[in-house]
Amino acid sequence: MTNPIPTEKTPPDEAPRFAELAGQVVVVTGGTRGIGLGIVRLLARSGARLMITGRKAHRLERVADELAKLGAEFETRVSDVADRDASRRLVDETLAAFGTIDALVANAQSYINVKPLLEITPEDFDLVLDTGPRGTLWLMQAVVPAMQARGRGRIVTFGSSMGQTGAPGYGPYSAAKEAVRSLTRTAAREWGRFGITVNCICPASASHRLPTNLDGDDPRARAFAAMYKDHPLGRDGDPLADIAPVVAFLLSDASQYLTGQTLMVDGGGILRA
Ligand SMILES: NC(=O)c1ccc[n+]([C@@H]2O[C@H](COP(=O)([O-])OP(=O)(O)OC[C@H]3O[C@@H](n4cnc5c(N)ncnc54)[C@H](OP(=O)(O)O)[C@@H]3O)[C@@H](O)[C@H]2O)c1
Repeated sequence: MTNPIPTEKTPPDEAPRFAELAGQVVVVTGGTRGIGLGIVRLLARSGARLMITGRKAHRLERVADELAKLGAEFETRVSDVADRDASRRLVDETLAAFGTIDALVANAQSYINVKPLLEITPEDFDLVLDTGPRGTLWLMQAVVPAMQARGRGRIVTFGSSMGQTGAPGYGPYSAAKEAVRSLTRTAAREWGRFGITVNCICPASASHRLPTNLDGDDPRARAFAAMYKDHPLGRDGDPLADIAPVVAFLLSDASQYLTGQTLMVDGGGILRA
């Protein structure tokens, strides 16, 4: 199978801006690459004030250079989402820098190599659970008191369509992402009365992770090729043009009556599962 033929697609530079988000303080974890970077770019263009995290300082510096040229208001921190104390410090430092927190985009997630269930080690499972559901929960615990005090908050978490399709080779990752979806529902129920909405986005494949050769025989290429067989839009998702605008909608007042939900931001790919 060849790479999917792009269908209708907004060029990333023409991705919409969301004026309503101007001035809002948003914590974006894993904002240095891929989907997180697309979200950071859209929010910065929309005038949001950002706290951006990642593990690698040099990647944060690259993002900082780009945002400084845009005139964006932001802070960056090296912070591991698996470290609960670090997440608390991150939120304290965000409040110290900006005075408030409107939203959390819990995007960061560490990956393990694709491998069959029979070969999975405890360390493999720990990594995806520590950075997926546990990391998401530590951050939610850290931001929610400030949101509760204001009576408004927006939290966006990240699952994966692979959690629902059971892609071979992705067992621990898929389980971790399904645990994030489950936590999202509980969080929505526990914090809805405080004006906090919590929703989960499930991408399927964003451009930067698509194998270059879908005809290849490695398990990753096979999983992606299967995903694009009979895929409605027939293409992967662009972090800035396709996924970030849905995050922006979830941060806005337009989504105020939506909580505890999973939005499949996958070009309809889940329909062929
Ligand atoms: N891309 C897809 O096709 C796809 C599909 C389904 C779901 N998703 C979900 O979408 C989200 C983003 O995926 P992605 O593909 O854009 O990821 P990615 O390209 O691997 O980027 C991950 C980002 O998270 C950061 N990060 C990783 N582990 C971290 C940790 N322990 N603590 C703090 N930051 C950490 C990375 O920072 P460094 O650069 O410093 O390492 C990087 O900025 C994830 O939750 C993923 O599960 C993605």
